[in-house]
Amino acid sequence: VFVHGIDELRVELARLVAERGAESVGLVPTMGALHAGHTALMEAAVAENAVVAASLFVNPLQFDRQEDFDTYPRDLTGDMEIFERGGVDLVFAPSVEEMYPGFPDAPAIGVSSGEMGRVLEGASRPGHFDGMATVVAKLFQIFMPKGADLRAYFGEKDAQQLMIVKRMVADLSIPVTVRPVKTQREPSGLALSSRNQLLSEAEKESATVLSRALLVLADRARAGEDWGLDELRALIDATDDVELDHLLVVDPTTLRPTDRVPGLALVAARVGAARLIDNMMIEGP
Ligand code: PAJ
Repeated sequence: VFVHGIDELRVELARLVAERGAESVGLVPTMGALHAGHTALMEAAVAENAVVAASLFVNPLQFDRQEDFDTYPRDLTGDMEIFERGGVDLVFAPSVEEMYPGFPDAPAIGVSSGEMGRVLEGASRPGHFDGMATVVAKLFQIFMPKGADLRAYFGEKDAQQLMIVKRMVADLSIPVTVRPVKTQREPSGLALSSRNQLLSEAEKESATVLSRALLVLADRARAGEDWGLDELRALIDATDDVELDHLLVVDPTTLRPTDRVPGLALVAARVGAARLIDNMMIEGP
């Protein structure tokens, strides 16, 4: 079932939950341009819930640049097929007006992601995490089933997003279980991303340096060797079409830079027309 309206979504969701006597609903929030990363979230949701719902909404509030919003890949027909094959029962694809009446006036009330939303990705994309948290909070409200639990599936690929959503749910006492799903990669190691569609074949090849650098870092840490961050930064920056933004290791609970394990290694770079991110947990010997 495919719906555009919030009221309609609530009616259809209630119907499905009642029909199946579902104890829980799985929710997969997306911005479309679906790939195997999204499919992995659907699989996890299908395995754990009698009803699985998804949203497809390119959220203007979380784009700090109009151009990035305009060029974001869109493929509704292809996406609907992938949702269907992925076992999604109900897809919510609202218009901008449905989500934000009066847009482009920003909603009067929104979620602040605080300090966690201002560092790292948030430093490069002002307002991004506030806009993301606002739409995710709205989606949680819209999909909250009566008499059943709500579980929401998020990829580890967007590590800072996942941390902020978990923290929002805790701080605002939102009754949702957040389920993380492993980062899905191409055989080359490149993390799957809708933005990869903006890359040429040569740029995709160049972009593999990001996951390769993370793997080297993880290997060195496991071997108890010096991480050699500066050398890895230079390697990335010396790659054609790749302009490094940052490569660093942070404490996975606070996002503050650390030189201890376990740590979360984060990389961000501009490759051609896209800004790509990736991350990997690093452990000690
Ligand atoms: P989008 O980029 O479409 O991603 C939707 C979900 O898929 C996110 O939870 C993301 O982490 C996950 N995902 C993307 N690539 C992945 C990969 N290679 N492996 C595993 N999971 C992956 O993230 C968003 O949309 C938006 O910010 C959203 C949460 C929908 C709010 O607008």
